[in-house]
Amino acid sequence: MIRSVLIGTGSALPVRRVANAELAEQVDTSDEWIVERTGIRFRHIAGPDETTATLGADAARAAIAAAGLAATDIDLIVLATATPDQTFPASATKVQAMLGIGDCVAFDVAAVCSGFLYAVQVADAMIRAGVHTRALVIGAETFSRILDWEDRTTCVLFGDGAGAIVLEAQEVDAADPAGRGILATSLHADGRHNQLLYVDGGPSTTGTVGKLRMKGKEVFRHAVTNLAAVMGEVVAKAGLTSDEVDWVVPHQANARILDATARKLGLPAEKVVMTVDQHANTSAASVPLALDVAVRDGRIRPGQIVVLEAMGGGFTWGAAVLRV
Ligand code: UT7
Repeated sequence: MIRSVLIGTGSALPVRRVANAELAEQVDTSDEWIVERTGIRFRHIAGPDETTATLGADAARAAIAAAGLAATDIDLIVLATATPDQTFPASATKVQAMLGIGDCVAFDVAAVCSGFLYAVQVADAMIRAGVHTRALVIGAETFSRILDWEDRTTCVLFGDGAGAIVLEAQEVDAADPAGRGILATSLHADGRHNQLLYVDGGPSTTGTVGKLRMKGKEVFRHAVTNLAAVMGEVVAKAGLTSDEVDWVVPHQANARILDATARKLGLPAEKVVMTVDQHANTSAASVPLALDVAVRDGRIRPGQIVVLEAMGGGFTWGAAVLRV
């Protein structure tokens, strides 16, 4: 059977790194409150020349190099973002041009913080259907551009960045327990919760870009329930138990959500990759960014079982299990 095998990861962050103390000079907050309630210490904020597409392209270049490929080997680009460079064209096509890829399929996926999981399932399905061979799956965001910098309940929580992976179609023996690749994915959406996490503008309503609005407490409650459920579901779908999971790479929204979700599944905190302290919440970029960090620092090693999970606006949520 054909599986989508992870053959490279990459990430990119804006040059400017902002500590909590710097935000405390602009809004009524403190390093102590932010660390205690969220675990966040730093975030990176894009400068005028850094955009979702430039960050996405930088992450993609790193992932393609790690895979030992040339950019022209890529035949599919799926880019997850809620902060595209422009309303259209898709930022994926801008990344394609920046990478010098003459012809391929390139489009964006919008599922906010779970966008990367949505993009992974789309790319995986296209690969397993035999339509594409080497896919670049990117999560890239510049949430700093849609934050209300006077709203302390949201502006301290988010950051900018990008992460990317390369998935390759490989023939594997389905009966081989050590076979690499994406073993299962699971996605969900429940549009009834639109008003708990949204942007108050858009091309078809206000004609403006709008700013992010969130009822944090309610989102928190749903996040822990939905993430624990979808992780349990996807691990079972892959025919595994949670004991067999080597690493969880979660969406990095809040250290307390990560802890609570791991506890619900009986997973020790040492198995959870945590980067929220360094990057804050980078929406669709957060899972591939954290994955790249843990691959490059040697924690995630070939042959291990990794679970990716995320939850965000919509609500949307999802998870994936892969043997790396
Ligand atoms: O990526 C999509 C998923 N997003 C999430 O998962 C976010 C989920 N939510 C959260 O992470 C948390 O709910 C927050 C971090 C947003 C908030 O933490 P909380 O423990 O739920 O705090 P809260 O909203 O109940 O606020 C507690 C207090 C309030 O004051 P009062 O009403 O008790 O007087 C807030 O006004 O903290 C106040 N507060 C702040 N204080 C200092 C809110 N933001 C700040 C701030 N600095 N930045």
